[in-house]
Order: sequence, then C-alpha cells, then structure tokens
Amino acid sequence: MKTKVIAICNQKGGVGKTTTAVSLAAGLALRGREVLLIDLDPQGQCATTLGLNPEPGAFYLLTMGSAANETAFVKQYVRQTGREHFWLLAGNQTTMAAQTVLNSQERPVSAIREAVARFTNNGLGYVIFDTAPSVGGIQERAIWASDMVLIPTSTEYLSTDSVRKLSDTLLYLQKEKSWKGALLGVLPTFYHDQLREHKAAMEDLRQGFGDRVLPAIHRAAALAECPGESKTIFEKDPDSRSAQEYQALVDLVIKYS
Ligand SMILES: Nc1ncnc2c1ncn2[C@@H]1O[C@H](COP(=O)(O)OP(=O)(O)OP(=O)(O)O)[C@@H](O)[C@H]1O
Ligand SMILES: [Mg+2]
Repeated sequence: MKTKVIAICNQKGGVGKTTTAVSLAAGLALRGREVLLIDLDPQGQCATTLGLNPEPGAFYLLTMGSAANETAFVKQYVRQTGREHFWLLAGNQTTMAAQTVLNSQERPVSAIREAVARFTNNGLGYVIFDTAPSVGGIQERAIWASDMVLIPTSTEYLSTDSVRKLSDTLLYLQKEKSWKGALLGVLPTFYHDQLREHKAAMEDLRQGFGDRVLPAIHRAAALAECPGESKTIFEKDPDSRSAQEYQALVDLVIKYS
C-alpha cells in the first residue's frame, strides 16, 4: 500500500490539532499500521505529549536536500516513541527558522511532499502532520504534501469562518496548484452536547460543510490530562468515550485510505 499522508490543520489555536494528531497516529499504530508523526509546529508539543524531547527533526526535514547523506542525517531524528509501529519526527522552535528558509528561497509548493518522499515507502502506512496555529509557507506546503486534510474545530464558539478560510485554501491549491488531495473532514472538538451554544456551533458547521462534518469529539477531562502524563488517550483510559471517539476517527481514516 502506498503511504497515505494526512495533515491536521487549523490556523486557530487550541482547537485540538495536536490531540487529534497524536490520537490518530496512536490509534492507527494500535491497528498495526506503521505510522510516522511529523511535528511541524515550533511549539514541539507532539514530543512532550509522548514523553520525548522536542528537537530539530522537522527543521532538518524542511531545510536539507534529498542526497543520500542528507536523508541519512534526517532519518537519525526519527524516534521510536516506545509504542509499537509509532514513530515521531519531533520539532522545536527551530521550525520557525525553517519557515523563513522555505519562504526566502521561494521553495515550490511541492517542497514538503518532496522532503517526505524519503519516508513514503518501506512499509510505512501513514505520515501525519501536526501543524502550527498560523498561516504561512509551512501550512500550505504541508497541505500540498497530503492526500487528506483534517480540520479540527472547537464547538466552544462559532468557527465556520476559520474553517471556511482553510477550505478555501484547499480549493485554491486544487484549482491553481494541481493539488491531488482532498478534505477528509471537519472534526468538531470540545463538544458539550448539553450546551445551547455548542449545539448552535454544530448546526452552523453542518450548514456550511454538510456531510464533511465528522462525528464530534466531546470535551473530556481525560483528554486534557493526557499531555501532562505523557500518555495517549488509548493508554490513559482505553474504555473512555474519548478513546472510542478517536477510535471511530481511526476507523474512518482506514476506510478512506
Ligand atoms: N476534547 C477535549 N476535551 C478537553 N480537553 C481537550 C480536548 N482536546 C484537547 N484538549 C486539551 O486542550 C488543550 C489544547 O489542545 P491541543 O493542544 O490539542 O490544541 P492545538 O490546536 O494543537 O493547539 P495549538 O494551536 O496551540 O497547537 C490541550 O491542553 C489539550 O490537552
Ligand atoms: Mg498543537
């Protein structure tokens, strides 16, 4: 099977991107798929959430060429997470410098696709990108590098505008830059089904994006506690509703890939 590349994006902060990236990667690995999570956010939270150290793996991925010795160098930064089938290329604040390099050298929109091509065989099932809450050269190139894009969005407020902006970017990349990927879905997060505002936000999303809106991830203390304990939701509380909700997302991704 060809490696599937999935980007988790939303320019809004704190909407559950990292939680979704880590949970999806962990869930796919538990299903026996080989998964490489790549942290394209300078905050480096994928590493800390998994109990590893932030480091400049993403910086080298984004700035080095594809000669054999450069690829070998980048691959040194692919870490075992201590979980079967689950690998991490961590990021840290140097990723910000990589963004400047990409933009100043006017690297093509295909730059990240080419950079990850060194990983996309050898039985690797999935590459998952966690991205930063901003727009810039990295986000656009990460989307272009992906087969599928997932947009987590919080139902704590009406969020159609930011999702619309991002989905416009996807359309632009498809039409103007020959991007071959597609939107996997909009993932409502922090959902509280007893609150009127949340129901309204959900309704708003459904009106805007129809069946692209995936089953929601509810707000849950267990999910908020995971990063502090360096655990995935499947390790912290495998029988919880949150684990089941992320498991459903994993099954959906497997179905579509
Ligand atoms: N469904 C949820 N219920 C409760 N807490 C959650 C949920 N999803 C994520 N969190 C917590 O909310 C905080 C923000 O989530 P997360 O880091 O995944 O968002 P993000 O979009 O990656 O943020 P940033 O834009 O800063 O990268 C984290 O502390 C996380 O543990
Ligand atoms: Mg994040």
